Amino acid sequence: MKIVLAYSGGLDTTVAISWLKETFKAEVITVTVDVGQPDDFKKIEERSYQAGSFKHFTIDAKDEFANNYVKYSIMLNGLYEGVYPLATALARPLIANKVVEVAKKEGAEGVAHGSTSKGNDQVRFDLSVKALYPDAKIVAPARVWNMTRDDEVKYAKEKGIPIKSESSKYSIDENLWGRSIEGDVISDSSTEVPEDAFEWTKKTVEEPVTLTVGFEKGVPVAVDGEKLSLTKLIQVVNSVAGSRGFGRVDHIENRVVGFKSREVYEAPAALLLTSAHTDLEKTVLTPHELRFKRIMDSTWSDLVYQGLWYEPLREEIQHTAEEMNKWVSGEVKVKVEGSGARVIGRSSPYSPYSEKVASYNKGWYPSDEMARGFIEIWGMHSLLANKSRSE
Ligand code: ARG
Ligand code: SIN
Repeated sequence: MKIVLAYSGGLDTTVAISWLKETFKAEVITVTVDVGQPDDFKKIEERSYQAGSFKHFTIDAKDEFANNYVKYSIMLNGLYEGVYPLATALARPLIANKVVEVAKKEGAEGVAHGSTSKGNDQVRFDLSVKALYPDAKIVAPARVWNMTRDDEVKYAKEKGIPIKSESSKYSIDENLWGRSIEGDVISDSSTEVPEDAFEWTKKTVEEPVTLTVGFEKGVPVAVDGEKLSLTKLIQVVNSVAGSRGFGRVDHIENRVVGFKSREVYEAPAALLLTSAHTDLEKTVLTPHELRFKRIMDSTWSDLVYQGLWYEPLREEIQHTAEEMNKWVSGEVKVKVEGSGARVIGRSSPYSPYSEKVASYNKGWYPSDEMARGFIEIWGMHSLLANKSRSE
């Protein structure tokens, strides 16, 4: 039997190589997908072979992640429960996709991942595999083996499995779009998260900075006038905004598996670009479009979070979002000052906003007669309803 394992190089999946070999007498093929996490992929490959894998693949999927996943999150102002930019949730279907590609190419019957039975990730992974490779046998060792972290370290020592020396006490998941941190003292939801949990948002620069983000059809394409690929643009914004201390989220989150958890995120670019895009949509769309779009946005975020990437509605919403973003082009100025970032200006050639119409100082004013007539008719529904209810 051959099993392809989604391999991060961390403790769980490293132990899983040996456990899968032993339990299923299987040849284990590991796949590490580069979605922008700052890892040493050479070291991960070495560790995989030392732990006993039969073959290893490293797949660079950064641009695919940016262009086919993150792009839609920007267009749909993707924020689960209004705050979490979905970094982990978005990358899972892509990782599953790459693992399935290798499994099919290598003729493997089994597909494995390191998620636990308490999380959302197992749902995202299992459902993506079921959609793409229905015949695959899905194995989640951590759902089966009943080992604690300490047991895993013991098991690794016994078997001579190399583990990452700088292993964090937190459970970390990182990619281009953000860094998710959970576990250890963070699980005490009443206390402040210690500084050692953070990597991307340590304040190293005091001066505030203003970034001008250029958008074309709802997608960021330039920063301060310089055209950049989406991948590069996100990296630049992460580093500029993160170095000011911006980009932290502390969230009590409703997981799909039935309980609330305390989650912490670092996502400077995701938060900044999403709020810039939201602002530009407000500048361009009609109020009717905007209200409808907000329902689409939250529905899309829920589907992605809940592991339903292969629900047809997800793609249908994306098509509509592309249509509605056709005119969402222009520039948004965002000022990053310490832990805050705010939009301080925006412009678009397609905006119906007119200073002449809106200003109190000049230009157009409805006449007194027009204003009275409008107000009378506008309030008629409510006034008539109140009258008919007073008898
Ligand atoms: N709660 C977040 C989510 O469900 C983050 C999960 C982090 N995953 C991890 N393996 N550490 O998307
Ligand atoms: C896990 O349990 O595998 C990580 C957390 C999550 O998926 O939400």
